Parts: sequence; C-alpha cells; structure tokens
Amino acid sequence: MEIIRYPADILRQKTEAVSQIDQETAELAAAMLTTMVEGHGIGLAGPQVGQLLSLFVAQDENGKPYVFINPEITGTSLETVGYEEGCLSLPGIYEEVIRPEAVQIQAWNEKGRFFKMECSGLIARVVQHELDHLKGTLFIDYLTPLKRDRLLKLYEKKSRQ
Ligand code: NI
Repeated sequence: MEIIRYPADILRQKTEAVSQIDQETAELAAAMLTTMVEGHGIGLAGPQVGQLLSLFVAQDENGKPYVFINPEITGTSLETVGYEEGCLSLPGIYEEVIRPEAVQIQAWNEKGRFFKMECSGLIARVVQHELDHLKGTLFIDYLTPLKRDRLLKLYEKKSRQ
C-alpha cells in the first residue's frame, strides 16, 4: 500500500466507524501491518493509506502486532511524559510531544473480538498518536508555531531531495 504523505487533505479528515468487521477488514488490516513494517514504522492509521475508517495497526516494543478497530480511549493517566515522535506520513522529522504516560483503550480486533488493553510506555504513545490520525490530528499540531514552522521547513527540504 502507498503511504499518503503530509500535506494531503485526507490526513486532516475525520474517519467513520467500521460498520462490519469481515474478511475485507481483516485483509485491509493485514496489508496495513505489512506496509507499516516495510516502512519501519510502529503504527499506521486508516487515513494514511487512503481509508477514512476508524482503524489502525501498531506494534509493541517486542514487535507484537495489534489491530485496533473502532478504538476508544477509556482512561488516561494524570502523569504525562515527553517522547520524540515521528510519523510515516511526515518522514524524516521528529519532535518531542508530551502526552499521558498510560492509557486504557477498548477496540475490536480483525477477528471481530472486543478487547480492552492497559497501555503504558511505547505502546501507549503509539496508540495515542494513531488515535489522533483518526480525528485528523497530527503530532506537529502539538508543537509551538515556531517549532512547527521550523520542522515543516526541514520536511519540505527533505521531501524535495
Ligand atoms: Ni503518524
């Protein structure tokens, strides 16, 4: 699958819930996982592959793959932490973003099974970043205008190379 890059409009659009989890959904999730791994990413959301659907794939620090369909955050820690984020739709740029250290998430997997997960550390970071994609939010939106401008200039420069 082709990964859509910033500033494509689709990255700013809101997704719709997956109405039925079927074979097609499972194939989409599998293709997204392959694309994520090939792109050396640890998360990939629907809009990034041209699908305005509420789903994303991710892997934890051990490389274990996860599929989150119609995900929802049901709890966040008060404690926050800074971590340097990047995005497959904004290749080559990275910046620290502060987010809750831990989150509780609920979703369905590609087999249609409902699950809840307590996330902390890297997977908590990925889950929050990918959930943002489903609402049209990108990690650069958290930066100060000055930092964002500087980073986007660097991105444009790298994109031309
Ligand atoms: Ni991203």
